This record gives sequence, structure tokens and C-alpha cells, in this order.
Amino acid sequence: MLAAQEREVPPEVDREALDRVVVIANGKGGVGKTTVASNMSGLAAADDIKTLLVDVNGQGHVGRELGFRGGELDDGGAALHESVLWGRPLVPVRDVRPNLDVVVGGKKVGDLPGDLALRFPNKPITQSLMLAVALQSIAPDYDLVVIDSPPENPPLVQLCLAAARWLVVPVKSDSGSISDGLGDISTEFELVREFSNPNLAMLGVLLFASGSSATAIQREVRQEVAEVLGSDRFMFESMVRASEAVARQARKRGVLLHELEQAANDNPKFWQLRAGTASRDQVVSPTSASVSEDMAALTREIFSRIAQREAESEMA
Ligand SMILES: Nc1ncnc2c1ncn2[C@@H]1O[C@H](COP(=O)(O)OP(=O)(O)OP(=O)(O)O)[C@@H](O)[C@H]1O
Ligand SMILES: [Mg+2]
Repeated sequence: MLAAQEREVPPEVDREALDRVVVIANGKGGVGKTTVASNMSGLAAADDIKTLLVDVNGQGHVGRELGFRGGELDDGGAALHESVLWGRPLVPVRDVRPNLDVVVGGKKVGDLPGDLALRFPNKPITQSLMLAVALQSIAPDYDLVVIDSPPENPPLVQLCLAAARWLVVPVKSDSGSISDGLGDISTEFELVREFSNPNLAMLGVLLFASGSSATAIQREVRQEVAEVLGSDRFMFESMVRASEAVARQARKRGVLLHELEQAANDNPKFWQLRAGTASRDQVVSPTSASVSEDMAALTREIFSRIAQREAESEMA
């Protein structure tokens, strides 16, 4: 086995083509990866930035965020599976929103690690590079590519990390998500950097679904993150406040947060509710404006940090 691994000649990857690829990852589930990936992509697209969102998830939750799950655009990840397995260009669904194309995830994505292991036995580096290979020919068509990664699936997470330039890690304030989740993703990060993708860099860590006024908790999170990563320079200032009501309404309607905020402008008036000509179900939570602004501020901070880091590496 060792001899076979020594003989492995991994495929060439054009790292310049993948220079604007951001992966959202954390070893743990339910920490906001899909929410951040989808909303950040949607906000960028709404700002005229040509964006590709790649859903490397067996659950296909991106389709729920954007409202196409189960519809005719939803192939359950079959196209993504095919492209990655055979190293062919990814086939996105065009214009899910203006300027936003999506490579659709779903159940079939879960077969990839096993199928890649069969196709490339004893070639772990090649296996981990196949998403990068499938992405590199279409990535230059976009100003930004965002990858939403799955929880608790190291081979799929490695595929995602091996295709990206920047890593963004959402965490929740419970210590499990920081010590375990961030710890796990740091281990994958180091492995991928060493064997598959030396270009990958940590961009930052963000606090997701936080009680917005809990500053003591925020300080503790900052400290824990600094302990795991060995530096406090990675924490983003912006965070996304907790609101289950807003999250539920957005997913139920299949809209992004800024779209939900817009829908709040059309909320029925109280007299319509009283007269029974409109129902309470149609009322969008007023908190949607604050959560939407949190997401916009976070997205701006992510983009300005990328610009800053790019400028630093040009000077170096
Ligand atoms: N601002 C918010 N406050 C509270 N809950 C939220 C907020 N935004 C989203 N949620 C909810 O938190 C849950 C987890 O979010 P999300 O699906 O983005 O996490 P994830 O890390 O992608 O999860 P998974 O690991 O299962 O893919 C979802 O049910 C989502 O609706
Ligand atoms: Mg998710």
C-alpha cells in the first residue's frame, strides 16, 4: 500500500483559477454553514458579483434556502457526483437568482467518497483533488465561488478544502462547536494543506446564532477560538444574531434573509388581520431586518478581509 501511495502522481490543479473560492466548513453539524454560504452568495450576486454556489452536501439544504428543493432544478446531486467522479467540468444550474448559479447537492453526493475510493484505489491525494479538478475549468467564469461543506464527513470535507483558497468557519457559542468542531476542521485543514492544497488559508471564524447582547459570551468565544488556532486574529467582528423565528420563516418560504426583509415591507396591516382578510402566517418577523443586516455586515467583512489578504500576499 505504501509503495502504491509513493507512486501516486496527483492531477495538476490550476490554483490561480481557484483563487476566489471560499469554503464554509466546520466538523460539526448545525453551526450555520449552509445559512452563511447561501446568504453570502445571494448578497454577492445581488451586488452584481457573478457567483457560483457549490452544495457538497448529502442533504441538499442549499435547495431549501433558495427555494428549489424537490423542484425540477433538483437532481439530488447526480450531476455533481458525475462531474467529480470523472473529473469533468461541473454543471451548474443557471440563474437561480440573477448572477447566481448553483451546483446542486443531494443524496448522490454521499456516494462520492466510496465511489472515488473505488475509482482511485490507494490514491488518497487524487481522491481529495477531484472537486478541484471539476471546478477549475468553470471557476474563472465567476468573480466568487462559495462551497457549502457537510458535517462529520472527513472525505467530503477534504474534497471541499482541497478546492478552495479561503476557509471560513462558523461556530456556535457552545464549547462543543469550538473545541470539537473547530479542532476537527483545523486538523483537516492542516492535512489538506500538507498533501493536497498548499494554497488553502484560514480567513476567519464567525460566531453564528448568538444572543446579540451577550458580550461576556462573545469574549469567551474569542478566547476559546484563539486557544484552538493559536492566534486571536481570525475572529470576525461581525456575527449573526440568533432568531429561530427568522430562520424558520426564511427556510419555509425558500428565501434568503435580505429577501425576507423585503417581504416584511409587504406585511399585512393590523386592520387586515383584524378583518380576517390576511392571516398571521403572512406576517414576516420584524427581526428579519436585523438578522439580514448582520449577514450583510459579515459578508462585507469577509470580502474586505479577502481583499486585504490578497494585497498582503502580493506585497510579500
Ligand atoms: N440566525 C439564526 N438564529 C437561530 N437559528 C438559525 C439562524 N439562522 C439559521 N438558523 C437555523 O440553524 C440551523 C442550522 O443552520 P444551518 O443549516 O445553516 O447549519 P449547518 O452548519 O449548515 O448544518 P448542517 O451541518 O446540518 O449542514 C437551521 O435549522 C437554521 O434554520
Ligand atoms: Mg448545512
